Amino acid sequence: MSQSVEIFEMGPRDGLQNEKRAIPVAEKIALVDCLSRAGFRRIEVASFVSPKWVPQMAGSGEVLAGISRAPGVSYAALTPNMRGYTDAVAAGADEIAVFASASEGFSRANINASITESIERFKPILQAAAAIKLPVRGYVSCVTDCPFDGPTDPDQVALVAETLHLLGCYEVSLGDTIGQGTPETISKMLSAVTKRVPVSHLAGHYHDTSGRALDNIEASLAQGVRVFDAAVGGLGGCPYAPGAAGNVATEAVQDHLVGLGYETGLDRDVLVEAAEMAQAMRSDS
Ligand code: HMG
Ligand code: MG
Repeated sequence: MSQSVEIFEMGPRDGLQNEKRAIPVAEKIALVDCLSRAGFRRIEVASFVSPKWVPQMAGSGEVLAGISRAPGVSYAALTPNMRGYTDAVAAGADEIAVFASASEGFSRANINASITESIERFKPILQAAAAIKLPVRGYVSCVTDCPFDGPTDPDQVALVAETLHLLGCYEVSLGDTIGQGTPETISKMLSAVTKRVPVSHLAGHYHDTSGRALDNIEASLAQGVRVFDAAVGGLGGCPYAPGAAGNVATEAVQDHLVGLGYETGLDRDVLVEAAEMAQAMRSDS
């Protein structure tokens, strides 16, 4: 098994979408430009969702227009529907992502659709993207626990992940959206999913609400997962405030992976710089 692990940087999207303060586009651009020097291959920088639902992501087109694109870096955007897809393509996103849930409660709360309806919404996006050879990533949320429906059945995660894979998502990112997963529940979930989707097409996306994200990453490494989503500075919540954590912090994942003997290709000094920048952008800083 390869000793190389990729971290997909989420800070400018998953991190900033949770901030209470309206962050100026110039600050978002400065963060992305700093991250572009760190050695990431993929950075999620934008989200073309309804500004009524997520006002923090308004201005995503301006962010994509304003950043200095580093060669070899793919700048990604979330697209919940065809409107978002059209806007993302017009803004020059290098890849897009559709996002589904393994639980009905979160699907309804997040995108106002059942799981089945959301998949139907994604089909034309995947067809249109295939026609212009635009890579599409897929997310499955609530892979172990849902804030509305409780524990998630691993077979249900496997079914949704397989559906996205078969529709053409080049990678499916498995989200512990509320950070309640444990190494045991993550391992059970992965055992079910890897029966239906090759592990080389999977990524782990773990929020750190309970401080177990690094343990969950280690459990996932043991099952062959080699891509993990993370956000510099633990953006999206405070890693020191129980119950308020967001994405697992990129610099913590980097240090943990290096400690385990994996290579990420990232420049730690730039990560620290970006983490300080991200911390300064927080509402509570
Ligand atoms: P809806 O209200 O059912 O949709 O929302 P609608 O078609 O009735 O549209 C409502 C209004 O939004 C309309 O405007 C539309 O034009 C507009 P109005 O006529 O009222 O003025 N609209 C849009 N505007 C801009 N861009 C668009 C767009 N679509 C409609 N693309 C909808 C359905 C999907 C749009 C909504 O529920 C939505 O935007 N949800 C996004 C929620 C979200 O972004 N959540 C966070 C990202 S997911 C996540 O964080 C999880 C992840 O990190 C993995 C994990 O951790 O598990 C990925
Ligand atoms: Mg997330």
